[in-house]
Amino acid sequence: MLQIKKLSVSAGKTTILKDFSFNFEKGKVYAIMGPNGSGKSTLAFTVAGHPSYKMEAGSMKMEDKEITLLSPDKRAKLGIFLSFQTPLALAGVTVFQLLRIALNKKKDPLELKKKIEEIAKKLGIKKDLTERSLNEGASGGEKKKLEMLQAAVLDPKLLIFDEIDTGVDVDALRKIAKFMNETKDGKTYLIITHYNRILHYIKPDKVLILIGGKLIKTGSAKLAEEIEKNGYEKIIKN
Ligand SMILES: Nc1ncnc2c1ncn2[C@@H]1O[C@H](COP(=O)(O)OP(=O)(O)O)[C@@H](O)[C@H]1O
Ligand SMILES: [Mg+2]
Repeated sequence: MLQIKKLSVSAGKTTILKDFSFNFEKGKVYAIMGPNGSGKSTLAFTVAGHPSYKMEAGSMKMEDKEITLLSPDKRAKLGIFLSFQTPLALAGVTVFQLLRIALNKKKDPLELKKKIEEIAKKLGIKKDLTERSLNEGASGGEKKKLEMLQAAVLDPKLLIFDEIDTGVDVDALRKIAKFMNETKDGKTYLIITHYNRILHYIKPDKVLILIGGKLIKTGSAKLAEEIEKNGYEKIIKN
């Protein structure tokens, strides 16, 4: 699905990601773990095509198509979706309006409205929240649920969830994870997290450990449990 080869990325004057290679397969769930500042969000932004992150070397292919030179918009059209660690508020734009534009007005507005309502109900998002400016005055958990809602409506192939479990209470996390489980068939998930919490609810096929911008270890779901028990330091030493 997503093939990354020898990727090095810088922002400002520093190189953040160093020589990252991995092949993310279709239909699988990946957890990308690492301490704060290890380059997890940088990886997510680079795949999505954020202009602040400069590719110094390497290649990225989405279903065999080189995406390195494509705009974020074109990458989205190929089926890449990034759920932001810190979702921004959009004054004067509702989630309906945003999705209507993102879908190029191809979906019938009534149908889109119904779909939003249906997903909002499943995720436990209050109705007035979907009718207000996106993310304005929303709590951490509500913002993450709204990210999930957008992902579900857009129906991408590759979903990158950057710390969807941060700032979210246990009930909201359960709802989000349950929804992720119910809708994951045929999709590839990259779940970025710095702790094990969400992985109690959604089991990764593979865990990747990123430290200091380098992929230092990969393993099964057990690796996430080890990190919870022993922290990252022990992994660095081994
Ligand atoms: N736009 C940027 N400009 C300069 N440095 C950045 C930028 N984004 C991230 N960094 C730096 O790169 C490192 C990795 O950041 P990040 O990818 O956000 O880590 P993580 O998501 O794993 O916590 C940090 O030291 C951070 O300060
Ligand atoms: Mg981050």
